[in-house]
Amino acid sequence: MPRITGSISLPGDKSISHRAALFSALTPAVNSFTNFNMNADCRATLDILKNLGIDWVLEDDLLTITGNELSSWQPPAGTLDAKNSGTTTRLMSGLLCHLPFPTVIDGDNSLRNRPMKRVIDPLQQMGAKIEHNQGKLPLKFMPVGELHGIGYNLPVASAQVKSALCLAARYANSPTEITENWVTRDHTERMLGLPVIRNGKSSVIKVNPGYEIPQLSMPIPGDFSSAAFFLVAALINPGSQLEIRNVSLNPTRTGLLKVFELMGITYHTETTRLRPEPIGNIRIESQEFSNVEIPSDLVPVIIDEIPILSVLGLFGRGELVVKNAEELRYKESDRIARIVQMIRTFGGNIDELPDGFILTGQRKLNGGYITTDDDHRIAMSAAIASTVIESDVKIDKPECVEVSLPSFWELLHSVSD
Ligand code: S3P
Repeated sequence: MPRITGSISLPGDKSISHRAALFSALTPAVNSFTNFNMNADCRATLDILKNLGIDWVLEDDLLTITGNELSSWQPPAGTLDAKNSGTTTRLMSGLLCHLPFPTVIDGDNSLRNRPMKRVIDPLQQMGAKIEHNQGKLPLKFMPVGELHGIGYNLPVASAQVKSALCLAARYANSPTEITENWVTRDHTERMLGLPVIRNGKSSVIKVNPGYEIPQLSMPIPGDFSSAAFFLVAALINPGSQLEIRNVSLNPTRTGLLKVFELMGITYHTETTRLRPEPIGNIRIESQEFSNVEIPSDLVPVIIDEIPILSVLGLFGRGELVVKNAEELRYKESDRIARIVQMIRTFGGNIDELPDGFILTGQRKLNGGYITTDDDHRIAMSAAIASTVIESDVKIDKPECVEVSLPSFWELLHSVSD
């Protein structure tokens, strides 16, 4: 059992990196980013932009993007390949529906199984012409005249759909009002400077056609969702002490820290910059803690962290209860099914629910063979569990971490004492 020690910084936040590239592509201005995450997902966004005539160059750690008006984007060669990336597909859809030439966007088998109706429906309400395969990929966008603004109450907690609409609304001929009844990640609103009216957990985003794209250049904060794996590694390996530097502290991303507080876990954060995105350092040590039932309003802000939370739950006192998380079934894999299978392989006690799971903490675990279904977050969760398990844990596709954190294995090695 290694101690997890040291001080690390992580590649840029995946959600912010996608947005940095996409939003920069929309104006003739030049924007530059350090710590942009060149993982497979964000690379898919950049490659699609290049195929649409947008120029970008990466020199050392500096990505420079020179955008263009949407009306000057070029017809692509062939199908746009979003690979495994839901964020690329859904955000890009809000722009493709406005192009004066047809485009087709497609992806790998996992992405072809993910629901796209959630983004097709509101775009069609705005007047978009989209052909699809029963609400799934491939999507074909046909040129139309102008789209019009709509009032839209988001039926699912999805920052991707919200962001697609914020983009589509820029090119509509009348204002759009988007209402969401949950808190979800707010990078789009922050980076584009869109006005948000909050009322408790609900908020309304008012989007006027032709809103100006602000200057976007920034150092991209480290990815909190990647940090979560190392925070849990430190918590469950006795004698550990870890610092993560320059990581996103955006409160719509750090819901896991709220869960830590409910579990009685202590940690320290220090904010070093607030705008455009909060950033800072987190310090944590191994400790004992209790499992809890996750409040349903926290689910959308920990949605990507639930696989690693299930590993944490194995080491807590009592029951970890996750409900109202059916969205997990529509991620890169059916994450509820994959979590249940992973925890059972480790000899853990877990009950599957239609919208979550109930897991009982215990420390006696065994190794085994983990089927990831090519899901990066399942692979990294299993790898963190393996740091504590004495017998061998084999992961079928360790390379699938490329999707979000290609340097995961090196980083894990670097903090394992
Ligand atoms: C993301 C939003 C979330 C998250 C995904 C990235 C984003 O998806 O799970 O990893 O960058 O907007 P949904 O919006 O589908 O919940």
